[in-house]
Amino acid sequence: MNIERFDNEDALASTLAARLIEAISLKPRLVLGLPTGRTPVALYREVRSRSQRGHVDWSQVRTFNLDEFAGLGGGDAGSYRAYMQAELFDHVRMEPLNVGMLDGRAADLAAECARYERAIDQAGGIDIQVLGIGANGHIGFNEPADALEAETHVAALQAATRAANAGWFGGDVARVPTHALSMGMATILHAREIVLMATGEEKAAAVAGMIDGPITTRLPASLLQVHSRVTVMLDRGAALRLA
Ligand code: F6R
Repeated sequence: MNIERFDNEDALASTLAARLIEAISLKPRLVLGLPTGRTPVALYREVRSRSQRGHVDWSQVRTFNLDEFAGLGGGDAGSYRAYMQAELFDHVRMEPLNVGMLDGRAADLAAECARYERAIDQAGGIDIQVLGIGANGHIGFNEPADALEAETHVAALQAATRAANAGWFGGDVARVPTHALSMGMATILHAREIVLMATGEEKAAAVAGMIDGPITTRLPASLLQVHSRVTVMLDRGAALRLA
């Protein structure tokens, strides 16, 4: 893994935004895998402002988000679709058909997961997958467990993960859905390049385990050690426990 340390989250976000925009200029049909959550808010702010300032051609870019809450769709506050519209899609000129998102309101969630895998394949696979990490070491909604799912699937969310997401639901944990649809470990590991961002001391233990610990399904991010092109971008807090 290639480890990069930054003084603060703004410096990290600005570096990654510049790299993503450069990647679009080098490959206009770039396929991006994208996360939601608190960590990438600064990244999307930078990407928006750089896209508005410069001439970034988003017209052929394709995106696939990592996950979505089961039961929530585009119009629902708290959905990752709503987050992505507000943080990125409403501000760049992407073709709506080039936006890949899981539909948490699909009548048949298993069929929706299978559709997503096919759509990623048909797009030629993901060029750059951007990830955050949960304090428990999850990536996407692949939670620590004895066994992990390879492909996009319906996942039960752990209590800590629901609590960490309460902010998107007015601070009320009871309103956070109990399940989500998520890319699986193979979906993520098949990306040609992976960039994981982590900020804040509450991520330091998971980050240390991911980089220096054994590969274990109990810390799903540790499976990234098997991928040959992973960059981990950390602020000071997230890097505190590195050897
Ligand atoms: C979100 C996702 C999650 C988050 C993780 C960290 O799409 O896949 O794995 O990246 O829960 O969330 P934040 O950034 O809110 O700490």
